Amino acid sequence: MKILVTGGAGYIGSHTLVELIDAGYEVVAVDNLCNSQKHSLKRVEKITHGNIAFYQIDIRDKEALTQVFKHHKIDAVMHFAGLKAVDKSVQKPIEYYDNNIGGTLALVEVMQNFNCKILVFSSSATVYGDAHKMPIREDFPLSATNPYGYSKLMIEQLLQDVFQAGGGWSIAKLRYFNPIGAHKSGTIGEHPNGIPNNLMPHILRVAMGELDKLNIFGGDYNTPDGTAIRDYIHVVDLAKGHIQALHALIDKPQIITANLGTGNGYSVLDMVMAFEKASGKPVPYQITHRRKGDIAICYADPSYAYKKLNWKAKHGLKDMCQDAWRWQVKNPDGYLC
Ligand code: NAD
Ligand code: UD1
Repeated sequence: MKILVTGGAGYIGSHTLVELIDAGYEVVAVDNLCNSQKHSLKRVEKITHGNIAFYQIDIRDKEALTQVFKHHKIDAVMHFAGLKAVDKSVQKPIEYYDNNIGGTLALVEVMQNFNCKILVFSSSATVYGDAHKMPIREDFPLSATNPYGYSKLMIEQLLQDVFQAGGGWSIAKLRYFNPIGAHKSGTIGEHPNGIPNNLMPHILRVAMGELDKLNIFGGDYNTPDGTAIRDYIHVVDLAKGHIQALHALIDKPQIITANLGTGNGYSVLDMVMAFEKASGKPVPYQITHRRKGDIAICYADPSYAYKKLNWKAKHGLKDMCQDAWRWQVKNPDGYLC
């Protein structure tokens, strides 16, 4: 079977390509490289000894996408392409809606034209807003506080409606919690263009000596140590969840909405300590003011994914930190070296 991976050069897409190739699928990747480098695909080929047919296109370009479907008989699509920085989405809402929603609309239209109806979509735990209790189940109320979150909510609705209209679509909406870590080989990892706001890239930069210290956003949350709690999940576990979802969708046409998290919540201070232990490097920090828009606690109930997809996360915090550190040390300039 041939699988099209949109956003394949990116962080989660590249790790999922490894799992797809290892599972015996043929793969085609498209990416406009707005937040990635195409070297990541070469590295995936190196790890897997596989081949990736790559097209540098924007998925909003229906004609270009159509050409890809004409060249390859695509059986299913994994759709990672999108913009993901919350703060930028507030500054540039039109760009975010255009890219995330416009891109998905163009994709499903072209898929429909080619009678390709199996789709795995990257959603986010952000669709739960500030959930009323923990752990978060898939049937909790949905909300958003920024254009990025709204774009994920709108795409989820769009896909629900496409499925409901009939015609044999089979769709998975996977709600990721906080992906971190890298492939065990240290050959691929996270290397966005520019400086990301997320916790692990900042910890890595402090451990490398590129930053003096980590700013911890808020020490007065109602949590055991006062810092905010999240469900960090190893990116390889996340990638494997996509393979399980694909199998379920191939098995029978259906729509699946599932959390991909570990079910464990760790505070920012837990992360700092786990990272120091795993890397042997100190991570000096200072506690500063809360970051606007942050919530205190967010972790998944992952039991539905286990029941439905026979999937659960296997890596613990130590692996996540060690693997992130290995990638960073082996590739201080990411894919640029
Ligand atoms: P990423 O930025 O590394 O990967 C996304 C890729 O899509 C990039 O390579 C980018 O160049 C490409 N892209 C963006 N817009 C495109 C377009 N219009 N046409 C073609 N390519 C385009 O991000 P990631 O962390 O791998 O995330 C993948 C998906 O998962 C995204 O949709 C993101 O919103 C979602 N997600 C990510 C996280 C996270 O923490 N990383 C959490 C929840 C959900
Ligand atoms: C963020 C996004 C969320 C998105 C997710 C995955 C926001 C408000 N939310 O989630 O929509 O789905 O990324 O891409 O941006 N922290 C620090 N210091 C730092 C960086 C982070 O203390 O330098 C803290 C944050 O306050 C948070 C935790 O670390 O408590 C995790 O932060 P981050 O990695 O940015 O993820 P989220 O905020 O959970």
